[in-house]
Amino acid sequence: MKAYTAIDPPEVLAARLGISASEIIKLDGNENPYGSSPKVALALQAHPWYHVYPDPAQRGVRQALSEYVGMNADSIIAGFGSDELIDLLARLFVGIGDEVIDLPPTFGMYPIVVETQGGQVISVPRTKHFDVDVDAVAKAITKNTKLLFLANPNNPTGNISSEKTIRQLLELDLIVVVDETYFEFCGKTVAHLVGKYENLVVLRSLSKWAGLAGLRLGYGIMNPVIIERLMTIKPPFNLTVATEAALVATLADRQLLMDRVHMLVAERERLTELITANVTGAHCFPSEGNFILCQFPDGIAPRVQSALAQRGVFIRHFRDPHISDCLRISVGKPDQTDTLIKNLLEVIEEMS
Ligand SMILES: Cc1ncc(COP(=O)(O)O)c(C=O)c1O
Repeated sequence: MKAYTAIDPPEVLAARLGISASEIIKLDGNENPYGSSPKVALALQAHPWYHVYPDPAQRGVRQALSEYVGMNADSIIAGFGSDELIDLLARLFVGIGDEVIDLPPTFGMYPIVVETQGGQVISVPRTKHFDVDVDAVAKAITKNTKLLFLANPNNPTGNISSEKTIRQLLELDLIVVVDETYFEFCGKTVAHLVGKYENLVVLRSLSKWAGLAGLRLGYGIMNPVIIERLMTIKPPFNLTVATEAALVATLADRQLLMDRVHMLVAERERLTELITANVTGAHCFPSEGNFILCQFPDGIAPRVQSALAQRGVFIRHFRDPHISDCLRISVGKPDQTDTLIKNLLEVIEEMS
């Protein structure tokens, strides 16, 4: 099994380069450069119950999420990041010899959780423009196929699969996990289909739009029957009391956080235009997330990534052969974009 290549935190990157963490331009984790709501720090400071275990039934968290999502709390479960729910779903549905459809290039955790369960990953590569090949998926399904993971918007390509495509997948005989970790950046969801399709699981996260990546909170929206089974197998205290306090404070500051989301969406377009206009031969794929995938000419992508890292500017290169000539850049603040572009042009100039 290949290990997931996780990113390092700023202090580790800074120590490696012998600079301070505040000098790092960190555009490799799709994190929110504006941080969490200021109300979160206040709520964490005021919280009186850190010595008591959190509610194993997640009542407060599920109720708060239910109001945010507009669905009943019995259709919602929270996890230690959407990562934990991806893992729990594999634990629930995948056994030795079961097959799971993966749609590369996509989020790297899906194959890992499947193989951990002794399942077999069936890769159905996306088309040239990273669309899902529904016919190829249908052909790949056997009596052993249990699950399909679809990131929407897809990470790292940034594109969306239409509701029509997702409905076609839902008509196939398997559980379809639509991972909407970047939902707030595009506003497109299939959560409204949960009542109609018992085999639909929608995942969301507070890591990106709400800037809570370090606190770890994701949630799933699905049929209450699946929720009950997940509640049975999850660790009893998979959330912390701090998480609940942070969630309530976050949702009370929704407007500020969504204003930041809109700033990031505008900055994503500016970043795309700057690269397209200034880097000869580079192509940025249209994105609906808080990141863009850019294709670079002449096989320079990995060298550009490491040259930028030497300068304290961190972006992401993936070993996946479908996108080995590409780099994924998380959208930062405008000054981070400017520093990135300056350094990008300099390292490309040095290479030529
Ligand atoms: C598509 C996708 N799913 C899930 C995750 C995990 O998110 P979380 O921080 O909620 O565990 C990520 C993180 O980058 C992601 O890109």
